[in-house]
Amino acid sequence: MVFDHYAHYYNLLYLDKDYSGETAYVHSLIQRFYTKPVKGLLDIGCGTGTHASYLAQKGYAITGIDLSQEMINSALEKNIPQAHFQVANATDFKLSHSFEVITSLFHVVSYLTTNDDLQNMFDQVSNHLMSGGLFIFDFWYAPAVLTERPSVRIKRLEDADIQVTRIGEPVLKVNENTVDVHFELLIEDKHTHQLTRVKEVHLMRYFSLPEIEKFLQCAGMKLVYSREWMTEKEPSEATWGVCCVAVKSEK
Ligand SMILES: C[S@@+](CC[C@H](N)C(=O)[O-])C[C@H]1O[C@@H](n2cnc3c(N)ncnc32)[C@H](O)[C@@H]1O
Repeated sequence: MVFDHYAHYYNLLYLDKDYSGETAYVHSLIQRFYTKPVKGLLDIGCGTGTHASYLAQKGYAITGIDLSQEMINSALEKNIPQAHFQVANATDFKLSHSFEVITSLFHVVSYLTTNDDLQNMFDQVSNHLMSGGLFIFDFWYAPAVLTERPSVRIKRLEDADIQVTRIGEPVLKVNENTVDVHFELLIEDKHTHQLTRVKEVHLMRYFSLPEIEKFLQCAGMKLVYSREWMTEKEPSEATWGVCCVAVKSEK
């Protein structure tokens, strides 16, 4: 399963990611677009639960789901109060109750690469949202991917025990609106100098705003906000990540 190997190094690889600032941004969107109190928040593709831990500090009761058992194990290890995590697929999950807010953060939607998978995810989101509830998500934005073009990236991070070098080699498939990102992780044990190599291919899809709007509409949701992730700028050819807020239509 994608992310199962990667999961062991995920927290280290994203130690430099501003989860606290991102959570403040998501919290501000919730306050802006949902005026009633929020009891429950579902985070789809919750990964190792880092957004969940910051969201819990803001008072939300979190349910987190993810396709990868290893990512869920890592989230459970955080022992976040008021949080519940389980393995489930974004395209066909069924939970016993609905939520005022559903999030899906850090390009999870871009992992849904077929029209059917994306529509199934949006339908499930709609099924689990209360009337007037919010769906907040971000994705790779087609105009920037096609203008800037994905390139080879190398990232290095270390802790007291290991040094991880991640090489990401993208293959752009313009007729499929996808990028195959071939990741190779080289992990060096700082004590024994033993080297371990892990490979994973992440298939990512980029989207335009009109197609996202159409998929949302088919699922009974209305797009009310689309801006560059964190900056609030109008999306452009220079905007790799776009954040959307959709509202479930009142019945
Ligand atoms: C880039 S990570 C983001 C994780 C987390 N949201 C964060 O911000 O750190 C993408 C996550 O989406 C999950 N994922 C991919 N496809 C999924 C699916 N169909 N259903 C549920 N989770 C999925 C992966 O397992 C992974 O944890």
